[in-house]
Amino acid sequence: MKSYNITLLKGDGIGPEIINEAVKVLNVTAEKYGFGVNYEEALLGGCAIDATGVPLPQETVDKCKSSDSVLLGAVGGPKWDTQPGSNRPEAGLLGIRGALGLFANLRPAVIFEPLKNASPLREDIIGEAMDIMIVRELTGGIYFGKRGNFEEDGIPAAYDTEKYNVNEIQRIGRVAFDMAMKRNKKLTSVDKANVLDSSRLWRKTMIELSSEYPEVELNHLYVDNCAMQLVRNPKQFDVIVTSNIFGDILSDEASMISGSIGMLASASLNSTKLGMYEPIHGSAPDIAGQGIANPLATILSVAMMLRYSLDESKAADAIENAVAEVLKTTRTPDIYTEGMKKVSTSEMGDAVCALIK
Ligand code: IPM
Ligand code: MG
Repeated sequence: MKSYNITLLKGDGIGPEIINEAVKVLNVTAEKYGFGVNYEEALLGGCAIDATGVPLPQETVDKCKSSDSVLLGAVGGPKWDTQPGSNRPEAGLLGIRGALGLFANLRPAVIFEPLKNASPLREDIIGEAMDIMIVRELTGGIYFGKRGNFEEDGIPAAYDTEKYNVNEIQRIGRVAFDMAMKRNKKLTSVDKANVLDSSRLWRKTMIELSSEYPEVELNHLYVDNCAMQLVRNPKQFDVIVTSNIFGDILSDEASMISGSIGMLASASLNSTKLGMYEPIHGSAPDIAGQGIANPLATILSVAMMLRYSLDESKAADAIENAVAEVLKTTRTPDIYTEGMKKVSTSEMGDAVCALIK
């Protein structure tokens, strides 16, 4: 029997609760589709700072590198707000992305039919089925560029640097064009080429790359315009490709259109099959330990893992179908509406498992 080694990074806040439900679902799915899963846990974020003094211990990097895939809950919380920038939980997250070379971040923003009325946008704006794939560059740009604090004429000052080279732009561009080929063959590249040199290089490189993909319709939007277009007419988008910082911002915006940030999954990929999968929401320390967190984004992240890293697409379909089905009747408090059954985090996990079995 095929068997996969998965490293679990439960992280902080609601991380452990939602990962436990995702593991339950993965185990049931594995049994049904005939493969095995071995788990190993490692520390990332605030829990790693508490245990070892740093947010990303070397042991965590080693464990992740030697596994088939990584499943991450969420990191961070007010407890670690006083850490210096380079030792914050978030630095651990950026560190593991860098260490594993996870340059391509896929963030699907989809609306689940039963949650349509949870979207803050009017139904005529979101249309039949909003389905956008944001491809965010994840290991370059301003989040990884030179930064520092200094004094400018005796006044404290600080800087960060946005920088991309052509190779970095091409490799994320290829992921996005390939993705567009598998979808509706429409790609929007988002930049700020009216101001930034790095964006002008980004745009020029995307245009050059487009000659390799004659079937894909490529267009360009400035990031400020894109932010506006996302709420004006989200139906116009198929695949969006953009830099690390713009993708960070636009993916939060797109996720909200879908009604609840508690529903959306993400995949971070490198040039091998190894990927890291995580919900796009944070660690929600305010509700941690209460059993009310929504585990569906993490469960859907498991589906992405099965699809993109483990080539178990039937198992991935089964999880996605079960989530779509469960939403018709069963809700955690964040997406609860009248007439539905209100359930806890673990009851939601059980309900998804029951539909897969
Ligand atoms: C995300 C998060 C992270 C990011 C933070 C926690 C560093 O916002 O995954 O979008 O900015 O990449
Ligand atoms: Mg973000």
